[in-house]
Order: sequence, then C-alpha cells, then structure tokens
Amino acid sequence: MATDKKQPMVQFKGILKRFGKVVAVEKMDFNIEEGSLVTLLGPSGCGKTTLLRMVAGLEEPTEGDIFIKGVRINDTPIHKRNLGMIFQNYALFPHKNIFDNVAFGLKYRDVPKEAIKEKVMQALKMVRLPGVENRMPSQLSGGQQQRIAMARAIVIEPDVLLMDEPLSALDENLREEMRREVDNLQQMLGVTTIFVTHDQREALSMSDKILVMKDGRKQQEGSPKAVYNEPANHFVADFLGHSNFMQGEVVDVDDHHVNVKIETGDVLFAENKGGFSKGNQVEMIVRAQRFDAFPKDEFEPVEGMNHFQGRIKDRSYMGGEASYFIELGTDREIHVISMMRTRIYNIGEEGSVQVSPHHCHLIPIK
Ligand SMILES: Nc1ncnc2c1ncn2[C@@H]1O[C@H](COP(=O)(O)OP(=O)(O)OP(=O)(O)O)[C@@H](O)[C@H]1O
Ligand SMILES: [Mg+2]
Repeated sequence: MATDKKQPMVQFKGILKRFGKVVAVEKMDFNIEEGSLVTLLGPSGCGKTTLLRMVAGLEEPTEGDIFIKGVRINDTPIHKRNLGMIFQNYALFPHKNIFDNVAFGLKYRDVPKEAIKEKVMQALKMVRLPGVENRMPSQLSGGQQQRIAMARAIVIEPDVLLMDEPLSALDENLREEMRREVDNLQQMLGVTTIFVTHDQREALSMSDKILVMKDGRKQQEGSPKAVYNEPANHFVADFLGHSNFMQGEVVDVDDHHVNVKIETGDVLFAENKGGFSKGNQVEMIVRAQRFDAFPKDEFEPVEGMNHFQGRIKDRSYMGGEASYFIELGTDREIHVISMMRTRIYNIGEEGSVQVSPHHCHLIPIK
C-alpha cells in the first residue's frame, strides 16, 4: 500500500558507542524528520556530543546503523557526508579572511570561482553580515564570528546541519538573539538540524522535537509541549522546568479524576488521562508556575481545585516573577513561581496555593 509518510532524514537504529568500558550512547533508536530542528538535551556527559560526532563521521558506532536519506552511512567518509557543522568555539581559521573562511567548503567541492563568490555573498547576507568578507575573524565580535560559522556551514547546502552547543560561549542577551537567529535561518532554509544543548530554554524555544538523554539513554522524545507537559519520568520532569514531586497512592479513580493520597495525608485530584487504578504507587508532578498563590485572608477556594495552606519559608524576586518556597507542614515544602499579579509575600506569612487537577501529572513508581 502506498504511504504518504516521508522517509526520515536521519535514522539511528540500535546505536551504541563504547569508549573502553564507558558506554557513551546506549541502544539508541531515533528518527529525525526532514526539515525539522531536533535538539539533543541532557546533562553533561550524557552522550550528546558523541551522538552528533557519529552522524558527522568523527566517531564510529560500536553497534547499530545510522542512515541519512535512507542510505546507511556508517562507512561513508566524512567528506562524502554532506553535512554542515558548527561547534561551541567558533573555530574559524584565524589566518584566513571571512570570505575564505565561508568559501572553504565550496573550494573543497570544486565549485567554479564565480559561483563561489555568489554563494558566499548570499550566505553572508543570510546571516546579516554582508560586507565583512575582507575582514579577519579577530576583527569581529564573538556573536559575529558565530554567525560566520553559520554562513560557512549553510553555504554548502548541507543535508543536515549539526550544531554542538553553538551559543554557549555567548553572554545571555546575545545568546537569546542568536537563538532566534538560528531558529529563523533554519526555518528559512528548511534544513534538517540537530542542535545539541544542555540549556532547557534553548531546547524548548527552538525545537520541533526534543530528545532528552541521560547516561547515554533516551529518556523521552517528543515536541517541547509533550516533554514539558507530559514528562515520561522523574528525570525528565526534574531536568525540564521547576517541578514539585509528591509521592502517594491512588485511592480512587472515576471518569474525570484520579485521587491520590500523598504523604501529608491530603488527597489530591489529578485529571484522569487513563492508565492508573486504585492501589497504584504514583508520583504527582506539578510545575512551580502552575500554582496560584494567595495571601491567606484573600483566598477563596474554588471547588474542584487542589489547595494547600502553608507558610512562606523563602522567597526570591526575579524581575517579572517571584519564586517562593512554601512550607506545608514538617518536612514538606512546595516551590511556587508566581507572576506577581499581587504583592510580594513576606517570609513567615501564611498563604494558600491552588492548582487545577489538569496541571497535576502522574507517573507510576515502579
Ligand atoms: N574520546 C573519548 N574517550 C573516552 N571517553 C569518552 C570520549 N568521548 C566521550 N567520552 C565519554 O562518553 C560520555 C559521553 O560524552 P559526551 O561528550 O558525548 O557527553 P555530552 O553529553 O556531550 O556532555 P557535555 O554536555 O559535557 O558536552 C562521557 O562519559 C565521556 O566521558
Ligand atoms: Mg558535549
């Protein structure tokens, strides 16, 4: 039967990479759709760079196969893989001017001289740096150098663009700007991109799909919304965003709700998305931003919502929002990030918080 489904641009099938006794990547199965931007997200040492380097041909998989456009590339030499690469340290050739830096990959590919000139100028325009072709890299700022690295990577019209923490050497404001720029450029060109980061904001704001990794293993893959709102396990919930975790037991299930008795003895309601029954041990996850906080005397509980009373234990002001740790009883506290619709609460003050069952996500405890 004919199928409309396009073949993925990149496929990892059972990829394993061992360095001596260290397993850097463990049995990875993963597809990257054509034209999409996928981020590999995870803590230091989880295998992101190793995975990328295997696509690039800089490392060989110990087991498994990598396909690009359906063709197995395990044995394809680096220069026969049509890939653009950008790394953390800009890695421009310091003694070549910008034109020669950008033209590098084209000269290597026997492109005629006139066409090279046209393509280089076009690429410089795309990264919004026309006119710098005669300068040396040292005459450009860090952000500009990184844009030149992008121009150099896209000028060859790669099948896949590989970016390994390309923004991590930039300061926060520039980083934000460059993040948008990479995003725009990627969409404009429609080039399949694998972007490595350990910055969750970067991953959430740019990706079509995120692959969350830990210790070389896939923890979850999905859209930013899916991994954020429906984390597959404790690690993902903890790594992405500020989460509260409450362990408990399912005491009742009806069509709408799963009722969970948590350690404090309180029974909380989570929306019933299926898969849980009475007696299950579960972990309830609530994002810090999902709570609404109220001073005790202004609080009017809404039926069907979960609420807690507590005392403000700690607070910090973060510009547009405030972060509170609210003590519920002995040993239990919740983290609330409030958009400061009202005043800032004082330490020691009593407060109430409320959260909808819709924002209470359950995962099983195995
Ligand atoms: N050439 C190598 N020889 C031995 N071990 C290696 C080599 N390269 C990577 N490793 C190990 O493989 C694991 C994964 O490393 P990798 O560089 O892929 O992590 P990463 O996710 O990119 O981390 P970071 O965020 O710090 O860049 C680590 O335990 C690392 O020490
Ligand atoms: Mg790395």
